[in-house]
Amino acid sequence: MIFTLKVNGVTHTIDADDDTPLLYVLRDELGLNGPKFGCGLGQCGACTVLVDGRSIRSCVAGAVAFQKSEIVTLEGLSGKPGTLHSLQQAFLDEQAGQCAYCINGMIMQAADLLKQTPHPTEANVREALDHNLCRCGTHNRIVRAVLRAAKAAP
Ligand code: FES
Repeated sequence: MIFTLKVNGVTHTIDADDDTPLLYVLRDELGLNGPKFGCGLGQCGACTVLVDGRSIRSCVAGAVAFQKSEIVTLEGLSGKPGTLHSLQQAFLDEQAGQCAYCINGMIMQAADLLKQTPHPTEANVREALDHNLCRCGTHNRIVRAVLRAAKAAP
């Protein structure tokens, strides 16, 4: 099936099977490796992207369903090529990644949170990221990074 997807502000023509997950299209067709394949079951959050400003797990969502949506991946989060979003900068400043495989999901989920709740409490952050898994155990740094980004926002 041939369809179009708007990703990070650019419209792409995609040729993929009807049931191809959005994650596969982003990584394999468009070469965007921000979103990661973790569990493939919608449980770990590594594949998180924003669709119309809200976070979704792209491993369990068929790409074809998003033809009329604005999809944003980690690569497009700042909105300006070559610049970092305040969350990306804060994660670097707090050294919040160890292996960093989960960091895409943590940042994209946090971006959703900060859109809904620009000045979250620590409890808000912990609740929002509760279903994003990190096996290295940098959770405290991740929470600090999100709070730091929230403070840095205008
Ligand atoms: Fe999608 Fe784990 S890879 S939730």
